[in-house]
Amino acid sequence: MTDATAIRWEQDQDGVVTLVLDDPAQSVNTMNAAFTASLDEVVARLAATEGLRGVIVTSAKKTFFAGGDLHLLSSVGPDRAEETFEHGMRIKRALRALETLGRPVVAAINGAALGGGLEIALACHHRIALRAPGSKIGLPEVTLGLLPGGGGVVRTVRLLGITDALLKVLLQGQQYRPAQALQHGLVDELADTPEELLTKARAFIDAHPESVQRWDAKGYKIPGGTPATPALAANLPAFPANLRKQLAGAPYPAPRNILAAAVESAQVDVDTAMAIEARYFTELVTGQTAKNMIQAFFFDMQAVNSGAGRPKDVPARPVARVAVLGAGMMGAGIAYSCARAGIEVLLKDVTVEAAERGKAYSAALLDKAVARGRSTPGERDALLARITPTADAADLAGCDTVIEAVFENPELKHKVFQEVQDVVAPDALLCSNTSTLPIGLLAEGVSRPADFIGLHFFSPVDKMPLVEIIKGERTGDEALARAFDLVRQIRKTPIVVNDSRGFFTSRVIGQFINEGVAMVGEGLDPVSVEQAAAQAGYPAKVLSLMDELTLTLPRKIRNESRRAVEEAGGSWTAHPADTVIDRLVDEFDRPGRSGGAGFYEYEDGRRTRLWPGLREHFTQPGKEIPFEDMKERMLFSEALDSVRCLEEQVLTSVADANVGSILGIGFPAWTGGVLQYVNGYPGGLPGFTARAEELAAAYGERFTPPALLRRMAAEGRTFGD
Ligand code: NAI
Repeated sequence: MTDATAIRWEQDQDGVVTLVLDDPAQSVNTMNAAFTASLDEVVARLAATEGLRGVIVTSAKKTFFAGGDLHLLSSVGPDRAEETFEHGMRIKRALRALETLGRPVVAAINGAALGGGLEIALACHHRIALRAPGSKIGLPEVTLGLLPGGGGVVRTVRLLGITDALLKVLLQGQQYRPAQALQHGLVDELADTPEELLTKARAFIDAHPESVQRWDAKGYKIPGGTPATPALAANLPAFPANLRKQLAGAPYPAPRNILAAAVESAQVDVDTAMAIEARYFTELVTGQTAKNMIQAFFFDMQAVNSGAGRPKDVPARPVARVAVLGAGMMGAGIAYSCARAGIEVLLKDVTVEAAERGKAYSAALLDKAVARGRSTPGERDALLARITPTADAADLAGCDTVIEAVFENPELKHKVFQEVQDVVAPDALLCSNTSTLPIGLLAEGVSRPADFIGLHFFSPVDKMPLVEIIKGERTGDEALARAFDLVRQIRKTPIVVNDSRGFFTSRVIGQFINEGVAMVGEGLDPVSVEQAAAQAGYPAKVLSLMDELTLTLPRKIRNESRRAVEEAGGSWTAHPADTVIDRLVDEFDRPGRSGGAGFYEYEDGRRTRLWPGLREHFTQPGKEIPFEDMKERMLFSEALDSVRCLEEQVLTSVADANVGSILGIGFPAWTGGVLQYVNGYPGGLPGFTARAEELAAAYGERFTPPALLRRMAAEGRTFGD
């Protein structure tokens, strides 16, 4: 009777039933329809089993349980709220029946238990986790715009107390290694082998013949108290205040619902608490933000990392020895990231001292990691031993890959490639970390342009997860595949774009910055401009970001681009931001943070306040536009330019656009990325197009919808369909 279901029933002579999570239709277990039906069935069968001594829940897959069925979850709209609520309650009732069975139930967590996986385990009386490599335990729903809707909020609050449940598990969606999960009280024991896992599970059953959940035991109190407990009552108001500060008014409903569900559910009995959780869950899952975030962080991320952009028929060839040219900020970070992945690194600069300074960057990062217990002295020494500083090109012999990160100057870049291309392996992959120079132009300086490619890292390299791979016109498939594999080898996320000025990321973020600066030029209050960026959900305010990048950089890029366009016979359209930037640099000598003055004032390199001169020289008192327009001008400027990138085939994949915009240039995550923002805009593509026309009429032709957008809107299509 159970053969075709997602949960296998194995019963031994001692009366112990092992429920083996093993969906035959999928490589991972998820909370799909088959699972829900199986769960109902096994729970009823357990209740009817005579002589039952205990239950072990484990999985036959590599991961214990993967969580919710995201295809299913992302398909429900507000019209299906009632059905969604009922479905959630059905799972909760089954898990509740399991935990009130009157017999010990043990979770033998044999691999990752994230989201729904941990929720199943939390409904067990005892949790034992196998120390499997890469195994993670946690409730990351918030990162998909959701909350744990399988009893995860109710049970973590009762297990850990409101404060710890919120801060250590629910609000940030932390993913813990088994040992950390033990430390935080999410699991009770660890096992080193699968055999030990099952032995310990049996031992628990033998020792606790009539187990009940602690929250069902007489006299149970929530650790730390309920919201009515004076100490907690005094602290709780800080939570919404902190959330407001953290979210800066950006539309992320999940943390707010999690907070409300945790606080409300702590004040009632378990069954009522489950209904409260289900109500908040339903509101999130039927809304647009969760759909956007599931699209970007699950489906698009999977498409990007699985190699949709990699030529299929090129065999993989792991990188063993890489030459990093230039040991400045970027080169030092690239060397660290490569060495961390086990690659041998030759770090070259003009002097050995400069190269050694680059290596010292890795030492500093590692010392910090050791001090914080995130690495060991042995790991630090092994990683540092893989980085060899040098000033001698001859040392680069045998390198299978070159990554160049010298100053942003085409002649210099040509020169350094000339210097090394005959020293390294004859078929070495040649990469440049240029942030703005056309790959086609740089390829002219190497003897093997087919092996030449752009590899655009983001700063700080050790933290930023994205690498933009830029395919030049002459770049071969082999080079593209090798570059893609290298990015995966160093555990970063690759997007692939075609050559163009500013590629995808630098070009599109430029639109955001220009729009913010243009608003200052129109006489709007700069404080409101910064506030609009924050409330739209941008992690960095727009004028402060401009200062970080320096005002002289966009000027240089603009002048070079104009020259290139005009030389090609095209006409150049100035941006209203140009004159503001020119005036700040030329008239007021405020080139940005590195020059000690920009849109902001600085003291010892620290930003202090917006420069009061902005008010004096730019702001027109009383000048206002709707705040919504300010936010949307920034969001639309980037989304529209991304559509143009797709139209011009700079971008060839919607997933690359969404993932790249969030991970690389801080496009707000709630949108699901630049093109998902268009899909999810009220009224879909036609709604977005109509709004773009309004913005164009009010603020300038740069908001005119591109032909591709109009066409897709008319055909009823969405990006990525
Ligand atoms: P940096 O100024 O910190 O470092 C450049 C390094 O190159 C210096 O250590 C310099 O001594 C070295 N160098 C100069 N000539 C050399 C030669 N002939 N041989 C070996 N080394 C030489 O510059 P940064 O910021 O690291 O940028 C490097 C490259 O990365 C540039 O092309 C830049 O556009 C690009 N980039 C920068 C990003 C950033 O956020 N700073 C982001 C992405 C790319």
